[in-house]
Amino acid sequence: MTKIAITLTVISLITGSSVFVVGTYFMDPCPAPCRCLKFGGLQSVYCNQTGVRAVPEGIPANTQLLDLSFNSISHIRVGDLAYLGNLQQLYLSQNELTETSLDERALDLPSLVTIDLSSNNFKTIPTFLPRGLQTLWFLNNQIEVLRTGAFERYSSILYLDVSNNGMMAIQPEAFAPLTSLQTLYISFNNLTDTSFPPNLFAKNTNLTHLSLRFNQLTSLLLNLPVSLEYLDYVGNAIRTLPAYGFTSLPSLKAMEFWQGQITSIEDFAFYGLPNVEILDFMQCQISSALTKNTFAGLSGLTTIYLDINQISQIQPGAFHPLTSLTNLWMSGNNLTTLEPEVLDAKDVANLSTLYIDFNPWECDCQLRWLREGMDNATYVIQDPHLIKCASPPKLAGKSWDELKPGDFVC
Ligand SMILES: *[C@@H]1O[C@H](CO)[C@@H](O)[C@H](O)[C@H]1NC(C)=O
Ligand SMILES: *[C@@H]1O[C@H](CO)[C@@H](O)[C@H](O)[C@H]1NC(C)=O
Ligand SMILES: *[C@@H]1O[C@H](CO)[C@@H](O)[C@H](O)[C@H]1NC(C)=O
Ligand SMILES: *[C@@H]1O[C@H](CO)[C@@H](O)[C@H](O)[C@H]1NC(C)=O
Ligand SMILES: *[C@@H]1O[C@H](CO)[C@@H](O)[C@H](O)[C@H]1NC(C)=O
Ligand SMILES: *[C@@H]1O[C@H](CO)[C@@H](O)[C@H](O)[C@H]1NC(C)=O
Repeated sequence: MTKIAITLTVISLITGSSVFVVGTYFMDPCPAPCRCLKFGGLQSVYCNQTGVRAVPEGIPANTQLLDLSFNSISHIRVGDLAYLGNLQQLYLSQNELTETSLDERALDLPSLVTIDLSSNNFKTIPTFLPRGLQTLWFLNNQIEVLRTGAFERYSSILYLDVSNNGMMAIQPEAFAPLTSLQTLYISFNNLTDTSFPPNLFAKNTNLTHLSLRFNQLTSLLLNLPVSLEYLDYVGNAIRTLPAYGFTSLPSLKAMEFWQGQITSIEDFAFYGLPNVEILDFMQCQISSALTKNTFAGLSGLTTIYLDINQISQIQPGAFHPLTSLTNLWMSGNNLTTLEPEVLDAKDVANLSTLYIDFNPWECDCQLRWLREGMDNATYVIQDPHLIKCASPPKLAGKSWDELKPGDFVC
């Protein structure tokens, strides 16, 4: 204490009053090897990546955020943190914690709502986390089976991330206690269609964000909460999006499917989704024709990513249901030609940006209208130097910025 006061006085002579501000935050000295400072409005103590093997003694009693990540802590005893009545956020990722590392009341702190236990050696969700827990990061552990009852004590959780756990199964009712849950990440696991019991999400009636990214699902999950706004199926093995597949999710605002295996989208697949603004299918394997009913029901859609697929056929009227469309990404497909009606100004009145590069365009008189559009359409055709003709032979390999509409002849 004395040493700290002297240090502050000396520095304050040199740098002025700001040092006094720092000095008033902590009544107690900061224990080595930690750094204590006010950050983001919170009294914060950073002991991360300092090599400690246990919670350092003498953490100031008014601490609100404690970062102990990237250390070798293998045990937390009752007395280690129990006096930190104001502690709200505790970061313990990248330590050596297992189920037996947390003593029964070691984390029983009245204000503690956010805990990061990622990258430890847990095989189950620990039993002795605070009952008022709201945010739990639990990435990179080894929960191969998420058990019924795992969250029994934690009905206050709003945000849960159990990604990258090698998870293969989820038992019935595992999420049932999480009635306040808003955001759930179960990404980068090994979940298949049969890993999800029916009605798994029946009690999660406030869930708005669900990420199933990089699992091995081959079909859409049934019985998701009607509250869902953001749904992430990125990197799964779904082949077909069936007709009327999302009619039970009218609140959806965005869906992502990129790097997936979708080959076909059935007519009316998105029926009943007027609030969806963004759809992302980048790098799937879509080869089905886009018909006038493929996108029926998406009247609020502003951005659609269809780049890097195998689309070769777009029927007139395909974009007609997308009355709010502003950004259309079609790069890297198998398009050779397009009829003018596909991008008729009255159908795509709000279109501002169009990507059509990396397609095998057949640059003849049928397509001249699109090259003209580069000069005078109401929307911008992006990257003309990357839009190249595949045929006829005379124009093969030429980019559209080197060509004039008059070059597109039959
Ligand atoms: C500890 O965490 C803080 C906040 O994330 C970061 O700024 C700092 O660089 C970290 N310290 C070490 C030694 O990694
Ligand atoms: C669900 O959300 C609503 C609106 O934000 C809130 O009033 C309600 O308390 C929440 N329900 C639960 C169980 O958290
Ligand atoms: C589990 O998934 C990960 C990443 O998604 C993958 O690297 C791993 O090979 C999978 N393991 C099994 C047993 O399928
Ligand atoms: C798309 O083009 C690629 C490369 O030219 C070809 O291998 C593939 O068969 C085409 N797919 C379709 C659906 O036309
Ligand atoms: C088109 O854009 C205008 C101006 O940004 C906007 O007022 C209008 O609501 C949009 N139309 C649709 C159908 O989204
Ligand atoms: C663009 O220019 C071409 C050729 O001059 C013309 O036929 C076409 O109607 C114009 N389109 C628009 C939208 O002005």
